Amino acid sequence: MTLAPVIAIDGPTASGKGTVASLVAEKLGFHYLDSGALYRLVALASEKEGIDVKNGPELGFLVPKLLISFEKGQILLNGEDATESIRTEAIGLRASALAAHPEVRRALVGLQRGFRKAPGLVADGRDMASVIFPDAVLKVFLTATAAARAERRYKQLIAKGIPAKLDDLLRDLQERDARDSSRGTAPLLVAEGAQVLETSDLSIDQAVKTVLDWYQSKIA
Ligand code: DC
Repeated sequence: MTLAPVIAIDGPTASGKGTVASLVAEKLGFHYLDSGALYRLVALASEKEGIDVKNGPELGFLVPKLLISFEKGQILLNGEDATESIRTEAIGLRASALAAHPEVRRALVGLQRGFRKAPGLVADGRDMASVIFPDAVLKVFLTATAAARAERRYKQLIAKGIPAKLDDLLRDLQERDARDSSRGTAPLLVAEGAQVLETSDLSIDQAVKTVLDWYQSKIA
């Protein structure tokens, strides 16, 4: 049995990979995995349970107990809507911290691979190409300068009516980049065979088109 094709899109926080990946999935009629949302869900659930973010083993045990579902643009955690609550900066930072534990990463592998279904999957995260789907047909490392990413995040928050400071966002983002890139287990890196897409000066449409073109040339 041949496995469904995977397009892996990795990159740093606020690089726009989520937006690009979900649009590519929509264009191709593929499934979509937002793996960062899984780490954020573990962050939210463990905070509610009062588990220390440094306790890798206990965080790892928590993962299989979580009831996670993605339905029509909604993310449910144990039956409750967590779509918005996982998007705060605080939960993002907590997710980045707990993602350094091998126990947590290991506990999430099966769940992530379960998203691979016909006709195909677009998966975004940090280690999609290197660890979770090393046989991905197309591997993209989508990035932008820290300044461009901070500005995008700022505009998103302001548009949602959430107060934000550009300087604070830039600092948090650099802190998160440093941690995601330097951890021992599955650090954020350009995987072997990955094509780098620098989006600082690209529109979303241009980035989506580039990924679709790269995919077409892979399967041609
Ligand atoms: O993509 P995001 O910002 O929603 O991800 C939140 C955090 O989760 C990120 O800082 C690092 C972690 N993460 C990870 O370690 N591996 C992934 N595949 C996805 C996210």
